[in-house]
Amino acid sequence: MAEKSGKFIVFEGLDGSGKSTQIALLEQNLKALGRQVCRTAEPTEGEFGRRIRAALSGAQPCTTAELAGLFLTDRISHNIAPETGIKAQLEAGCDVICDRYYYSSFAYQGPGTDPKWVRDMNRNCPDILKPDLCVFLDVDYRRCKERLDAGREALEIYERDLGFMEATRNAFLAVFDALKDTDRIAVVDADREREAVAEDIFSVVKAVL
Ligand code: TYD
Repeated sequence: MAEKSGKFIVFEGLDGSGKSTQIALLEQNLKALGRQVCRTAEPTEGEFGRRIRAALSGAQPCTTAELAGLFLTDRISHNIAPETGIKAQLEAGCDVICDRYYYSSFAYQGPGTDPKWVRDMNRNCPDILKPDLCVFLDVDYRRCKERLDAGREALEIYERDLGFMEATRNAFLAVFDALKDTDRIAVVDADREREAVAEDIFSVVKAVL
């Protein structure tokens, strides 16, 4: 397999933390530098992503361990899909910006199962690439919940409970602390004007280009 040449950047944050807006701004900033950018997201639009969405909507309930397995399989397909997959895009020279990745599995599925199991199966999988950078948008969970309640008709299982959102933020921070020596992670205070947040994100991204 060819060496990858683009950079792999993932965004994490609670639902309602403004990931889509900040990803769009980073895409513009990178393109202005003359770089090729490819945006993607998990869960994907593929077979396993559809199964995950059915579970997240509550329509097809499944256990947390089953969900962890589905996210893992979705992630493998997402990495290795010919031409459109993360590896193929990086090898083609594109920077890949992914809306959520395995840090979400660690924070959402880890506490309800076995955190080490979730981490190891993702990290030890030879088909799952390690990102060059993870940007975590840190927004007060009460503000995230207000945005979700105002913006959508049907909330997914992880968006319904304020206590769960607070616990998830704490889980993310604990995961980042545990990975601080092995992963490049930027926790960005995103409770600010969007341009100021975008500027901070662009500086940490430029440091990995
Ligand atoms: P989200 O980014 O909110 O997608 P959308 O805006 O289309 O709803 O992701 C959906 C949910 O999936 C979110 O609540 C977090 C959850 N999730 C996990 O629980 N584990 C994972 O590994 C990933 C990637 C996402």
